[in-house]
Amino acid sequence: MADIKIAPSILSADFAKLGEEVCAIDRAGCDYVHIDVMDGHFVPNLTFGPPIIKCIRPHTEKVFDVHLMISPSQPFLQDYADAGADIITVHAEADIHLDRSLQFIRSLGKKAGVSLNPSTPENVIEYVMDKVDLILVMSVNPGFGGQSFIPSQLEKIRRIRQMIGDRPIDLEVDGGVNTKTIGDVVDAGADVIVAGSAVFNGGDYIKSIAELRAAVAD
Ligand code: DX5
Ligand code: ZN
Repeated sequence: MADIKIAPSILSADFAKLGEEVCAIDRAGCDYVHIDVMDGHFVPNLTFGPPIIKCIRPHTEKVFDVHLMISPSQPFLQDYADAGADIITVHAEADIHLDRSLQFIRSLGKKAGVSLNPSTPENVIEYVMDKVDLILVMSVNPGFGGQSFIPSQLEKIRRIRQMIGDRPIDLEVDGGVNTKTIGDVVDAGADVIVAGSAVFNGGDYIKSIAELRAAVAD
C-alpha cells in the first residue's frame, strides 16, 4: 500500500458538533486534521479562526494542519500557533513577503507550509524550498468543498515532486480528491491527501478513509 497520509477537511464536518467530529475522524484513523481557515476576502467564503481551533485542540492529539486562506496572514500567524496548529500553511498569492512568513512560522516552533492556487506556477516557491516543511497544491479554486478536481494540477504535482528531491517536505493535495482521483494524485507524487466530502459525506468515516487508502493499494 502506498505510504500516504489522509487529512480529512473539517470544512465538510457538522460545525454544530465539531469536537465530536474531530474525535470521530481521529478514531477512524486519519493522520492529520485539515483545518480550512477562510476570511471572506482572499476566498469567497468564511469559516473559523483561532478560538474555534483552540476549542477543538483538546479533542485529539493528531496533527493540526491549518490551511490559511486569508490575506494578509502575517498579523495572525502567532494566534494560530497559540491556538494549537502544528502545521501553518499560507498561500503564496496572499503573502507578498512569503519568505518572511515561512521563517516566522518556523520561529514559532511550527511546521511551515506554502499553498498554490491552481493558476499559480510552481516556480514561485523555487527560492523558499529550504524554508518549507509542506507544499499544498490546490486542485480546486479554494473557497468551497465538493468541487471537481482540476486535472492540470497533476503536472504541477509531478514537477514539485521533482523539485523536492530528497528534502523532507510533505506534498499535499487539496480539492476534489476521492476514490476516483486519488490514484492519479498519488502516482503524480502526492503523499498527503486532503479529503473533505469524500470522508464526511458518506457518514461512515472509518469506511471512507479505508476506501481512500485501498484505492492506492499497490
Ligand atoms: C477548499 C478547501 C478544501 C476543501 C476540500 O478551499 O481548502 O480543503 O474542503 O473539500 P473536498 O475534498 O470536498 O474537495
Ligand atoms: Zn484546505
